[in-house]
Amino acid sequence: VLELGCGDGATLVPIAHSLPGCTAVGIDLAPSAIDRAVLAAQVLGLTNLTLRAADVTALPDDLGGPFDYIIAHGLYSWVPAPVRDSVLAACARLLAPDGVAYVSYNAYPGNHSRQMAREMMLYVAARSADPASQIRVARQSLATLATSRPEGELYGNLLREELKRIAELRDEHLFHDDLEPNNTPLYFHQFVEHARRHGLKYLSESEYSETAAGVAHDARTAQAMAALMATSGNRGGGAHPATDDEQLVLDREQFADFVRGRAFRRTLLCRAGIPLHRPPDLHQVFSLRVAADINPAGDAPGGGERFRNDKGITLTTNRPLARAALRRLGQIWPHSEPFPDLLAAAAAEAGPLAQREGKPEDQPLALAEALLAAHAGHLVDFRTRDPTLAPAVAVRPVTSALARHQARSGADVVTNLLGGSVRVEGTLAREFLLRLDGTRDHATIAHELAGLIVSGAIPPGEIGQQITDIDRAADVIRSAWDGKLQLLARRALLTIDSRVMRSTIG
Ligand SMILES: C[S@@+](CC[C@H](N)C(=O)[O-])C[C@H]1O[C@@H](n2cnc3c(N)ncnc32)[C@H](O)[C@@H]1O
Repeated sequence: VLELGCGDGATLVPIAHSLPGCTAVGIDLAPSAIDRAVLAAQVLGLTNLTLRAADVTALPDDLGGPFDYIIAHGLYSWVPAPVRDSVLAACARLLAPDGVAYVSYNAYPGNHSRQMAREMMLYVAARSADPASQIRVARQSLATLATSRPEGELYGNLLREELKRIAELRDEHLFHDDLEPNNTPLYFHQFVEHARRHGLKYLSESEYSETAAGVAHDARTAQAMAALMATSGNRGGGAHPATDDEQLVLDREQFADFVRGRAFRRTLLCRAGIPLHRPPDLHQVFSLRVAADINPAGDAPGGGERFRNDKGITLTTNRPLARAALRRLGQIWPHSEPFPDLLAAAAAEAGPLAQREGKPEDQPLALAEALLAAHAGHLVDFRTRDPTLAPAVAVRPVTSALARHQARSGADVVTNLLGGSVRVEGTLAREFLLRLDGTRDHATIAHELAGLIVSGAIPPGEIGQQITDIDRAADVIRSAWDGKLQLLARRALLTIDSRVMRSTIG
C-alpha cells in the first residue's frame, strides 16, 4: 500500500497496524507530519510501515512497488494543477497491473455555492495575520453576508445554507478545506478524463453505496437519473443498465451527481486495460463474508419486516431468506459470516418459506442479490476477513494498542478494529479505554476509575454528581459497566489479539 500525502498517518498507520502482512509506504511534503506518523509507528512497534518526507512531483526512485493499493486522500483537489497531474502520474507508474488507486476530490455541482462562499471568505480574511484570526474573520464575514439578505431571496438562501454548513465544521476543517488557497473542485467526468490521459479508468467509489447504483436506491433519484439518460439520448437508459459500455456507466455516475448536487467523491481507479463486470457479478458475493450493524425495527405493512441501522437507514423486506439472514447478521455484529454459512443458517431459519425465493438451487443467487441491494443501500458490509474481534467481553478486556495510542494522544476519535472511527466522549471514556490493555480485570479498572472520580481528575459534570467516597464512585462505574463494555464490543473495539495488546498504559 502506498499513500501519497499521508499527513500524520491518520489513514496509513491503522492500515499497517491492522494488516501486519502488508507493506505500507507513506510520503508527505511536510516533514513535521511525517515525524508525527513516525512516532505513532514507533509507539505501535510497526515494522511494516515506511514513512518519508517527499514531494509527489519528485518521488524518490527507491519507494518500492508496484503497489496493490495507492491512496491519495485529501490531496488531489487541494494542490496546484501540476501536482494533481503528478498524483495521477504516480498512480499510473506505481500501480500493480491489477492494482486499485483511491483518489478523493471536491466535486461539482455541489461545490459551486461552496466556492462562492469560500472565495468571499478568503478575500475578507486575506489580511488577517494568523490562522485563528482568518477563521474568525471568515466565519464573521459569512454570517454578516447571510443575515444581510432578505428571506426567500435565492442569493441569501445560498449564503444561509453555506453558513449552516460551516457552522458544523471544526476550525481545522474550515481552515484546511474552505480557506485552503488551493481548492479545485471538478466534475466527475473531468476527473475521469484526467485519469484516462494517464492510462487509468473508473472502477467504482470506495463506498459502493455512493455509486450510481447506490444512490439510485432512492426512487426519486433513480427516476431523475433515468429521465436524464433518456433526454440525453443515451441508449441504455434506466438506473441499472446491464452494460459494459463505459460511456453509459460514466453518464450514469455523472447524472447521479447532477441529481444529488454532489460535492465530494472518493473514486477508485484501475488500469485502463482491465476488463470489468458491470453490473457486478452476483457470484462474487458467494466468496465474501457478510456483516451488518442492524437491528429488527418491527413489522412493516404488507407482511414485511423493517430493519434499521444506527444512522437511521431502514430497509424493509418480506423475503424469508433475506429476513432471516439480516436478523442473524444483526445478532452476530461486529462479526461477519461467510456467505455459504449465512445462506445455510438463513435457509434453516426460514424453513419451508424459503421456497418462496425459488428452488433450493436458485436460493444462493436470490440471497446474494438481496444482500448486494442492501449493500448498495449502506446496510450490509462485505469483507474478505474478520479482524481478531473478542467473541465476548473478557475477564481482562482488551482494546487495540492503536485505539489506546490515539486516546492517549488526545484524539477525540479512535480507530476500531474494522478501520472505522468511534468518538471518545469525555475524560472518563478516554481513561476507560486506556485501561483496556489486557492486564486489568473489571474490579481493578473500576477501582482505578473510581480513584480518578474522587480525585476530581474526571470532571463531576461527566457523571452528573460530585462523589468523594471511593466505594460509591466504584458503584457508579460498575452500574454503567455492562452496558459500556457491550457497547465497546458492538463498536468493534474489543479484541483478543496479543499483537494488538503490546503497548500498555504509559
Ligand atoms: C488534508 S492532508 C491529508 C492527510 C492524509 N491523507 C489523511 O487522510 O489523513 C493533505 C496532505 O497532503 C500533503 N501534500 C500537499 N502537497 C503535497 C505534495 N506536493 N507532495 C506530497 N504531499 C503533499 C500535505 O502536506 C498534507 O499533509
